[in-house]
Amino acid sequence: MDGVIDMQTIPLRTAIAIGGTAVALVVALYFWFLRSYASPSHHSNHLPPVPEVPGVPVLGNLLQLKEKKPYMTFTKWAEMYGPIYSIRTGATSMVVVSSNEIAKEVLVTRFPSISTRKLSYALKVLTEDKSMVAMSDYNDYHKTVKRHILTAVLGPNAQKKFRAHRDTMMENVSNELHAFFEKNPNQEVNLRKIFQSQLFGLAMKQALGKDVESIYVKDLETTMKREEIFEVLVVDPMMGAIEVDWRDFFPYLKWVPNKSFENIIHRMYTRREAVMKALIQEHKKRIASGEKLNSYIDYLLSEAQTLTDKQFLMSLWEPIIESSDTTMVTTEWAMYELAKNPNLQDRLYEEIQSVCGSEKITEENLSQLPYLYAVFQETLRKHCPVPIMPLRYVHENTVLGGYHVPAGTEVAINIYGCNMDKKLWENPEEWNPERFLSEKESMDLYKTMAFGGGKRVCAGSLQAMVISCIGIGRLVQDFEWKLNDDAEEDVNTLGLTTQKLHPLLALINPRK
Ligand code: HEM
Repeated sequence: MDGVIDMQTIPLRTAIAIGGTAVALVVALYFWFLRSYASPSHHSNHLPPVPEVPGVPVLGNLLQLKEKKPYMTFTKWAEMYGPIYSIRTGATSMVVVSSNEIAKEVLVTRFPSISTRKLSYALKVLTEDKSMVAMSDYNDYHKTVKRHILTAVLGPNAQKKFRAHRDTMMENVSNELHAFFEKNPNQEVNLRKIFQSQLFGLAMKQALGKDVESIYVKDLETTMKREEIFEVLVVDPMMGAIEVDWRDFFPYLKWVPNKSFENIIHRMYTRREAVMKALIQEHKKRIASGEKLNSYIDYLLSEAQTLTDKQFLMSLWEPIIESSDTTMVTTEWAMYELAKNPNLQDRLYEEIQSVCGSEKITEENLSQLPYLYAVFQETLRKHCPVPIMPLRYVHENTVLGGYHVPAGTEVAINIYGCNMDKKLWENPEEWNPERFLSEKESMDLYKTMAFGGGKRVCAGSLQAMVISCIGIGRLVQDFEWKLNDDAEEDVNTLGLTTQKLHPLLALINPRK
């Protein structure tokens, strides 16, 4: 009997085995086919290359970018050469994207081929060679530090924890404005000075549990006051990050010394490191003395033991610099536009009054204030604080907009250009919050591309939205804002950025 069973089962087993192998082979072939079909690296070089903006030998298009507002030049070129074109900056070739549709390809569909960065010399030094969430390649380090920052600072639960700090910040801004008005009723106020200082205080409280007034910096043998700490931690690195070293464009000339440039960047690096070290030391002393604090540094000390000392320092510094700038840029532009357009300001004031009455605006009111949200969104569109997304690097051949993009290309998403796209926005030059009221998806925070998208979407968008919306709401609820009668249109911006060149100066009048 055994033999009979054997005779029947062996071929069956063999058949199953052969069948299994065949199935495995078919499945493997299927996946191979799918991969090679989906992976552009195999087929993309049969596609046409990205259209080029004509340049000159060696320098490529560098001279055409010398006016130092690349996002505007890129937008002008998009009108001539289309939503995707390539330029040469010295020895590097760069693809510039100025439409939402192709930007989404870069950020989502083709992300696996474009998930790294090639940094300029200054950024390499100032980011401690990509040791920040925002500047890292997409890898395990990025996932770890992004998890830390979302868990303990920027995610919805962490933001709930910092609510009291935000309320204090708004109260302080309002009080400082009232105090200014009491003393100088007919003078224009510089909102940036007040708002930025309070924003920095909030960033310090989130990171270190305390708005530090002064600190002894052992490595520099000096005591620094708050303003100087702000310069070292925020202003200097911000300026450094947009500094350009001509060697960035000609990697084959890296050996040529450019000492004065290197010294400037290294001085920024050393001073920032010294101040951060002093802040960390002081915090450790507070913990040792039994003070109970609930801030990012406390979380990092207990949960981020795999980080090296330098990575720890960078992780702590990251939300300080990121909190202190873009939100202020947005709020200042919104207030400039509202001061320039009294009718729109009245409309916003009426909306706030109808919802809040005699109470001060709070975060709970936000969902009932669509016009306030539209003011914020329209400001992000017209004056996007990050006009060009930090450059991405193509590490394997890919396809964008139906064109072949070879490995080694850099990709710039021109957010400003996307937001000025006439096919998407009617009269894009006009600041008109109304356009966000008629949209079905007007509450979509990512409608304008200002916060990027995909896996590298801005981690601080919630914080930026809440602070900026409540900031604008409270400023309009407490005061009427006016530009001086002789004020001229002033939309100039600072260097490569979209920050207002001249701070907004406005006359304020407390509301009854
Ligand atoms: C209006 C204000 C803001 C704007 C317009 C903005 C814009 C952006 C953009 C465009 C990116 C994407 C970069 C890329 O894909 O390469 C980004 C990333 C990021 N932003 Fe923001 N940001 C704002 C506020 C903030 C704030 C307040 C914080 C933190 C305090 C923050 C933290 C980050 C971080 C950590 C990333 C990196 C995310 C990642 O790479 O995974 N941002 N932001």
